[in-house]
This record gives sequence, C-alpha cells and structure tokens, in this order.
Amino acid sequence: MTDLDTVRQMDAADPLAAFRQRFLLPEGQIYLDGNSLGALPRDTPARVADTVAREWGEGLVGSWNSADWIGAPQRIGAKIARVIGAAPQEVLVADSTSVNLFKLLVAAIGARPGRHVILTEPGNFPTDLYIAQGVAALLPRVDVRTVPRADIVAAIDPDTAVVLLTHVHYKSGALFDMAAITRAAHDHGALALWDLSHSVGAVELDLTAANADLAIGCGYKYLNGGPGAPAFLYVAARHQATLRSPLTGWMGHAAPFDFGDDYAAGAGVNRFLCGTPPILGMAALEVGVDLWLEADRAALFQKSRALCSLFIELVEQRCAGLGLTLASPAAADARGSHVSFAHADGYPVMQALIARGVIGDFRAPDVLRFGFTPLYIGYEDVWRAVEILRDVLDSGSWDTPAFRARAAVT
Ligand SMILES: Cc1ncc(COP(=O)(O)O)c(C=O)c1O
Repeated sequence: MTDLDTVRQMDAADPLAAFRQRFLLPEGQIYLDGNSLGALPRDTPARVADTVAREWGEGLVGSWNSADWIGAPQRIGAKIARVIGAAPQEVLVADSTSVNLFKLLVAAIGARPGRHVILTEPGNFPTDLYIAQGVAALLPRVDVRTVPRADIVAAIDPDTAVVLLTHVHYKSGALFDMAAITRAAHDHGALALWDLSHSVGAVELDLTAANADLAIGCGYKYLNGGPGAPAFLYVAARHQATLRSPLTGWMGHAAPFDFGDDYAAGAGVNRFLCGTPPILGMAALEVGVDLWLEADRAALFQKSRALCSLFIELVEQRCAGLGLTLASPAAADARGSHVSFAHADGYPVMQALIARGVIGDFRAPDVLRFGFTPLYIGYEDVWRAVEILRDVLDSGSWDTPAFRARAAVT
C-alpha cells in the first residue's frame, strides 16, 4: 500500500521534476487534462509575441523567407518525426487533425483501387468516424465498416482498403498494437492509418519499426502547442510518390511560386500541404515540441505509466465503494497516459472536482477522464487529486443543480 511518504520520495527521485517550472500553471490547481489541452510552456508567450511584433510587425511579408515561415510545416514536422520514430521527410505540420484525416483517407482509398471498405471500430473518436462517413458519402462504393476492437484483425479482408484506428483510445486510453495490426493490414493488401492524437508525446512510438503507412495527430495535447494548434500528418516514404491528396491547394504544388494554371503534385510529403500555414499557431507549437524533445523519453514514458498506475491504485484503495469503476485497462503497458473511471453521475462529480481545483474532464455518457502529463504532473499531485475525489464522492458535494448544469464543452 503506497503512503504519502512514499509518494513524496517518488517526487524527490523524479528526474523530470524540473520540467514543471518550464510551464505556467495556475497556483492551487492540479491539472489533469493535458490529454485534452496541454499546459502553456513558459517560453510560449514571448515566442508568440516575438513572432507577432518582430517577425510580422517589422519583417512583414519578408518573414516568409527571412524567418523561414515558409519552411515551418517541414521544419516542425521533422521535429515531430523524432517524437514518433519517423524520418524527417515523412512528417508535415498542417491543417487540423480532422482535415489531415480526410486527406490521407481519400489518398489511401485511391491507392487501393478495387477495394471499398474503411475498417474501423465503433466508439472511435467521433471525428474519425464522421470523416470516414463523409468520405464514403463522397466516393462511389466506399463503405465504412465498424467491428469491435477484438475482431479488427479477423475482419481485414480483400475488400479492405484501409484500417483506420486511434492508437490510444480517447475515452478508455486502451492502446492498440500498431505493429501487429499494420502487419495484418499488409498481409491482406490493405493500408493502416493511425490517429496518434492521444499517443504523440504520451507513449513510445516507432512508426518506422511498426512499418506504418499513414498517421495523423494533433499538436495541442501532449505536445503543448496551444488551443487549436496545427496538426501533423505522416506518410511513409515508400508511399509518397503514389499517394495523392484530394485537397490540391497551391502549397502542395510542385512549384507554388511559378503560379501556373495546372496542378502538379509536389515532391514527397509536401503534396499533402494545402494552403498557407498558420504561422502564429506554428510558433507556439514549435516551442511545445522543442520542450518535449529536451526531456529524456525513457524517463518520460516510465513516469507516465507510474503516474497512471499510482492513480488507479490509490482510487481503488481510497475510493472503494464510492461508485467508481475503472474504465481503462488495468495493465500499464496496455494504456496511454490517461485513466478513466465510470460513475453514474460522472458529469456533476467532475464539475465538483473542477471547483476544488482538480481539472479533469467528462466524456459522455459516464466517464471521468484524468490525464497525467509527466512533464508537469508529480506523484503528490496524484495523491492530492485522489484525496479530493474521495472527499467529493464521500460528502456528496457534487449533487447540486449547479454542478449538473451542462456546459458546451465537457
Ligand atoms: C483521437 C482524436 N482524434 C482527433 C481529435 C480532434 O481532431 P481536431 O483537432 O481536428 O478537432 C481528437 C480530439 O480530442 C482526438 O482525441
């Protein structure tokens, strides 16, 4: 049984403890929602201000060249490639996760003529299902087939064009075996497209070793790129010459500044660019990625697993009989960096926690979700969060009309 002294010793021995000072976190809060919106790196405000005042204000249009604004998608993409175990020329920063998903899904289907199925799981993140449904509505004969995660491998067949899965599930945190599923897709001639939104910066990723085809992910969770940060996409080098983006904007053209009338796909991954990159968002994202790259990744992933395991252990010990059921895998190597518990009154319970300074979130119908970002969360934070959770549940302080009133974002 882990006690508070042990927890404090864990913090004292934490090689990542100093990173907390690199973030601007409000006093008195325990921020367990970095899996939704990462915290603000201390260097970001100055970097964004400099981009605005000096690069934009003084450099004006010249900054496209002099500040290498034009190279931001590839430059930051190459940094994210280091996070996900890809080659620098395989990753681009562009658009949103949803838009990148659309581009890569259509490209994947185009690369598998004669196959008509997008295979995914029910309960995948809504945008993944909705974009797949939109692609099916747009392209003749394409169908979306959903099968439970345990049956995915068996469901891959000669009709499957692409297997579309979220590597770490947004609700449960359950982790797919990327290499095994990619292999199964390849065995049947299909491609695999991974949504890494809850994986990037949170769990070990080696897309090269997994022989991955395609991936997308967001910049505002564990990469701490800020609200609505630009997203990234990955296209394995071996696919870059054949895959075609359906959004043939000028930035993806082979020679955008020739201003020709006819589209010609750009070289390599560049063809998956569409329009002008959002430079202010890029500037903030780059600070977050640079900060992540400073950390020892073995220590980071080990701490992530340890924080989540400690949370589960303490909740099960100290909140027993208070209506919580673990909704994440119990085994540390089967989950990402967040933990979910189901509770029949999950929404007001989460609001009561937030009012007490424990910031998690709620995912319908009944899931309390707690993210543990190892760069800025410590072991004693976990302890204190569980104490407050126990108090909220034990006292029934959550059961008020104010806490039951639903906000737009949950
Ligand atoms: C798995 C997954 N995919 C996609 C998204 C969001 O996509 P977008 O950034 O386009 O809103 C999220 C957001 O939480 C997510 O969890």
